[in-house]
Amino acid sequence: MGKVGFISLLIAAIAVFLGERIANLRKRFQATQELETNHLPNCVFLPNLNHGSEDITILRNGLAFISSGLRYPGMPILDTVVGKIYVLDFNETRIKPIELRMPRNFDLESFNPHGISVYTDPNDGTVYLFVVSHPEHKTQIERFKFVEEDYSLVHLKTIKHELLHSVNDIVAVGVESFYATIDQYFVNEFMKGIVELILLQPWTTVVYYSPEEVKVVSDGYYFANGINVSPDQKYVYVADMADHNVHVLERKEDNGLAFVKSVAVGSLCDNLEVDPNTGDVWSGCHPNAWKLFFYDANNTPGSEVIQIQNILSDEPVVKQVYADDGKVLQGSSVATPYGNKLLIGTVFHKALICDLK
Ligand SMILES: *[C@@H]1O[C@H](CO)[C@@H](O)[C@H](O)[C@H]1NC(C)=O
Repeated sequence: MGKVGFISLLIAAIAVFLGERIANLRKRFQATQELETNHLPNCVFLPNLNHGSEDITILRNGLAFISSGLRYPGMPILDTVVGKIYVLDFNETRIKPIELRMPRNFDLESFNPHGISVYTDPNDGTVYLFVVSHPEHKTQIERFKFVEEDYSLVHLKTIKHELLHSVNDIVAVGVESFYATIDQYFVNEFMKGIVELILLQPWTTVVYYSPEEVKVVSDGYYFANGINVSPDQKYVYVADMADHNVHVLERKEDNGLAFVKSVAVGSLCDNLEVDPNTGDVWSGCHPNAWKLFFYDANNTPGSEVIQIQNILSDEPVVKQVYADDGKVLQGSSVATPYGNKLLIGTVFHKALICDLK
């Protein structure tokens, strides 16, 4: 074969490979998915939250913590947006998010909050807030103490570890320990941004962290995203966004995780919240993640809230509770109920509070 013949063959082979990979990505991102709206009654936008409310977590007493201002690569958000943590008290008659006061010595400029988790110390009731942050595209976990009297945070520790790169979400299981999802395999920026999407292999993981031990405890995820625990702390739930399911894993004595089953959800689910009273799992999902990652202001990504009932039983029930085609709410990433209200947060858009039917 001549040189020209070889080069044309090579180009053709690359084109076939890329074509196949893009078709694969479109399928995993549900690129052709159109959604019928399924709205809830009495929805209102929450004031102050106009630059995302990527993750929300709620205490039993009705106090919700919200991370806002995530600058995630590829998302349509301005570099000038500032990361903030809000709280919202469901007991108030006029529900309004209030910005938490950050410590003076804390670098707010590079604060880029993503997944969050709260842990209440059973011994003294102290509330610890864990926040995944991405200063300069890196990952670190910020651990704070929450002071309810004046709605402020005291910074306790910055946690960095080579296994904790590209952390997406986190669930605290102790005063200083947590499980975290790692949503990318590669560490290098170019490999993460382009090659990882093209290959999209089940190479992402879940990591356990404690001051004594850091280890990978579960792997085989295409894009490990939301993570949470059952009310009795015995099971861990992990959303594999690009595989359209939620995995159920059992915690072992050594904090390892054993696969139990996966529940198909038919959507690209992001953060997971667990209702402490019913054990139901709630998620804000991306019905069409192609529209999210390749954003077009004229064809915006929609929102979908999924509730999984009886997740530990033989017959979990997967229900769509809310759906919007992107005209009202774009890119839902979390949903959490309290009483008869439902709070829905988004990656970079607004936050909605609705009545449950
Ligand atoms: C909200 O009200 C409930 C019931 O009265 C109470 O137990 C809880 O502590 C209150 N929460 C807050 C944050 O004040």
